[in-house]
Amino acid sequence: MSELNAIVDAAQTAFAQAATPADLENAKALFLGKAGRITELMKGMGALSVDEKKSRGAAINQAKQAIEAALNGRRQALADAQLELQLKAEALDVSLPGRKRGLGSLHPVSLSMERIEQIFASMGFDVADGPEIENDWYNFGALNFPEDHPARAMHDTFYVEGGYLLRTHTSSVQIRTMEQQAAPIRIICPGRVYRCDSDQTHSPMFHQVEGLVIAKDASFAELKGLIVQFLQVFFEKELKVRFRPSYFPFTEPSAEVDIMDERGRWLEVLGCGMVHPNVLTSCGIDPHEYKGFAFGLGVERFAMLRYDVNDLRLFFQNDVRFLKQFA
Ligand code: DAH
Repeated sequence: MSELNAIVDAAQTAFAQAATPADLENAKALFLGKAGRITELMKGMGALSVDEKKSRGAAINQAKQAIEAALNGRRQALADAQLELQLKAEALDVSLPGRKRGLGSLHPVSLSMERIEQIFASMGFDVADGPEIENDWYNFGALNFPEDHPARAMHDTFYVEGGYLLRTHTSSVQIRTMEQQAAPIRIICPGRVYRCDSDQTHSPMFHQVEGLVIAKDASFAELKGLIVQFLQVFFEKELKVRFRPSYFPFTEPSAEVDIMDERGRWLEVLGCGMVHPNVLTSCGIDPHEYKGFAFGLGVERFAMLRYDVNDLRLFFQNDVRFLKQFA
């Protein structure tokens, strides 16, 4: 009996010392496994008499049950501890604030475009629209670019199949509008334009806003006043503005407009001029009855100046750290 008690004691101690389920299974094998101490005792009974087998067998069984009880108790304790740990590790603090979703915001080019549109809308201009895939007539021919004229080469045109091209300027919308609407006309044409050009200040796709006024009394003086007023409102300051003689096939006379920056340098911001009589005639407008003026500007240029951005490519890389600054 004392031998059995000692075995039960040893089993209880071994089980209590097992720190993991694996340790516990190893400890179990020492007592109840094939070569375990209880199993060995069972095997040794073969030589005993029937009476001895009865009493000895009952005693061994009792010891075995005590060991199994200890084993199950320890199993349960280990499983409970394991569960406790897991619950602690997976604990949710339901009182923490939720993760906010970032709110999107308008792109700086869109902001500038909207701003330009609003200013011209307040000056009585309507918005006109046209296709980005154009034919040669609307992009060049009707705008008084003669065949084989070097001015065509200035535009680095993307040509597409079937004699079409990606419009190189929104001036094409001038022509479409004059074809469809009767004079007088007072429109701006905002939109995407394309040129095969890419560096710090050029991108193969960019945005322009073109303006066109057709009226009996349209004059260069009115054009000049309008542009100066627009620039002061857009940049929200008194600006030094200069009109510099230039050349565009579709306007005569033509000018490029410069503004002076804080460091006293002239920066070119747009092109303009009186609509060439050939352009009016192409669109069925009598140049003796109506005059016109037009202007065109690059929206990215205006956005760069307004927001002090020095690399145009930032507008197209969609880096959220850049874009967030305009929210
Ligand atoms: N179409 C010109 C360009 O791409 C811009 C322009 C200049 C438009 C003078 C005009 C204008 O309407 O009168 O660069």
